[in-house]
Amino acid sequence: MDHKVDFQVFPSENMVPAPDRARLLDNLGFGKVFTDHMVAVSWEAGKGWHEAHVRERRPFQLDPASAVLHYAQEIFEGMKAYRTEQGSIVLFRPEENARRFQNSAARLAMPIMPEELFLDAVERLVRIDREWLPAGEGSLYLRPFMFADEAFLGVRPANRYTFCVIASPVGAYFKGGAKPITVWVTDKYSRAAPGGTGAAKCGGNYAASLIAQAEAIEKGCDQVVFLDAAEHRWVEELGGMNIFFVMESGTLVTPPLGTILPGITRASLIALARDAGMNVEEKPYSFEQWRDDAAAGRLKEVFACGTAAVVAPIGHVHHGDNRFSIGSGEVGPVTRQLREALVGIQKGSRPDPHGWLHVIA
Ligand code: PLP
Ligand code: COI
Repeated sequence: MDHKVDFQVFPSENMVPAPDRARLLDNLGFGKVFTDHMVAVSWEAGKGWHEAHVRERRPFQLDPASAVLHYAQEIFEGMKAYRTEQGSIVLFRPEENARRFQNSAARLAMPIMPEELFLDAVERLVRIDREWLPAGEGSLYLRPFMFADEAFLGVRPANRYTFCVIASPVGAYFKGGAKPITVWVTDKYSRAAPGGTGAAKCGGNYAASLIAQAEAIEKGCDQVVFLDAAEHRWVEELGGMNIFFVMESGTLVTPPLGTILPGITRASLIALARDAGMNVEEKPYSFEQWRDDAAAGRLKEVFACGTAAVVAPIGHVHHGDNRFSIGSGEVGPVTRQLREALVGIQKGSRPDPHGWLHVIA
């Protein structure tokens, strides 16, 4: 049955020697360094999940007709393992990643991976590659993903898939660390439309966002902000992060779920803000309002959030030929407070009242 998949473990015989690993861990950016192993599980129609391996990280052999190469049936997740101050290794709300992976799979007409199998695979990789967990600020970014590898050119859901998990020790996502970023609000490109795949974490969404992100970089900005596809009016999210607005009244506003990715950081920050007595509203917020609120001083802070970026303050906004800043363009107190609350739980320096940490034995 699906849930009873036995893993075969083949420890790598080509592990990176400890001194080289230490050197790599000393100079981390985001997603450039990879650990020694990978986990792979196969799925086939009629057979279900089978052939689960933990083995040396190595290239796949793909038939040139593999469905993923033509019709982009691919989904992924992004999560992190942290070393707590007490020395244990923890995952942050990994069940949420497992569930979102199931929802993404359903949207892309892919097989549903049982939550226990997803968690088992992730934990196995963290355990075998635990020496790659950076000390201090860094974390081990985990990238579970699944793609269609049936060789078939007809357009229909494939009958064969590979699920895989790789890991990458990471430091800060942005080069400037926790310094405020500048965003580019695009009028030209949309990320997702109602009825589309915006709420799924599929590679295709990112492929479609790259040109907009490139435009942002060309305009001297760090990240792109997308507006809704129908009216080009409502703020949705960034290329790889959700967004929050902190109003003068103390209320936090964040765009509602629907066409955006339901971020686990977003959900966690909503809970932490409410724990701290703040009012949080998930409601549509227009770009026009954003600009007016910033000009009138009603908008105090804006920040982006996600697993990779954690909490990233937004200091400046560019749109067409117009530019404006949020407050003084510096990190605001609410952004700092929420970032510290979240990171404190993840690193074990603060209590975990919601039971979000999942300790890896
Ligand atoms: N929005 C997009 C488009 C993303 O890629 C991500 C990152 O995964 C997020 C939001 C934030 O999601 P999470 O907090 O679950 O990492
Ligand atoms: C993540 O935060 O996990 C993402 O997938 C976003 C991507 C920009 C790295």
